[in-house]
Amino acid sequence: MAATLEVAYLNGSFLPIGEARVSPLDRGFLFGDAVYEVIPVYEGRPFLLDAHLRRLNRSLNELRIADPYSTAHWLTVIDSLIKKNMGGDLAIYIQVTRGADSGRDHMFPDQVAPTVFGMASALATPDFSAGVSAITRADNRWHRCDIKATALLANVLSHQQAREVGAADTILIWDDEVTEGASSSVIIVENGELVRRPHGREVLPGTTTDHVIALASAAGLACRQERISISRLHNADEIWLTSATKSIAPVVRLDDQPIGAGKPGPIWQQLIKLYEASKRE
Ligand code: PDD
Repeated sequence: MAATLEVAYLNGSFLPIGEARVSPLDRGFLFGDAVYEVIPVYEGRPFLLDAHLRRLNRSLNELRIADPYSTAHWLTVIDSLIKKNMGGDLAIYIQVTRGADSGRDHMFPDQVAPTVFGMASALATPDFSAGVSAITRADNRWHRCDIKATALLANVLSHQQAREVGAADTILIWDDEVTEGASSSVIIVENGELVRRPHGREVLPGTTTDHVIALASAAGLACRQERISISRLHNADEIWLTSATKSIAPVVRLDDQPIGAGKPGPIWQQLIKLYEASKRE
């Protein structure tokens, strides 16, 4: 995990990350009452920014937190964070909480301003030439995973299980079907066709997956939205984990068994080239 870069943003000010202070009464801290986005930046330019800002706005609406900024203002904040941290390839993290009240109460407080925090970290282009491994575990999260909420305890525990066995992520299984990764979306390839789970309350609508599917469709590949059973997952020709920070990670081992030929597959080779090219467009 790359260290956070020097300049952060908090409630209208840019300041050194070490000097950023939030109240312990902030509802993000007390309740996880907050939403976030992670936006990749390539060569100083934010990637898929519209999709990230749309999803941020949607997450805020779902939690009934008024979006504190107009789109134009978000663009200014994000652009300044990029420039003040010297551009290049970055991951910009944005978090909005319901704000800090005068005490702790589950009920929404009246007239509290949301807390807005932003920071940047370096984004390395991962080396996926050997592929990655993944494990499967039960999905024990809440039923509103379509909201990009900071309350990520189940995701954190699942991700940690993967890391402890040297895997890149945990693929979560609910009712014998794939939902998503603990910190990524899942796409499988079967007979040259891409398959992803349809959007719904069980999964985050991934910006990277949407982009990858658009690239694949434009290249003439068939893409289907279907639920994926665990046995189908294990028998897939290829499995990919997608996210703003991973781009498209090819899974070559799942639960200690090889996937396909046990190396990144031909459709991944095709898509990663298209993805890399699209970063520069
Ligand atoms: N998370 N599903 C979950 C649970 C995620 O946490 C993420 C990404 C995704 C992929 O979404 P996107 O393609 O829009 O990044 C799907 C970010 C990177 C994170 O929490 O750091």
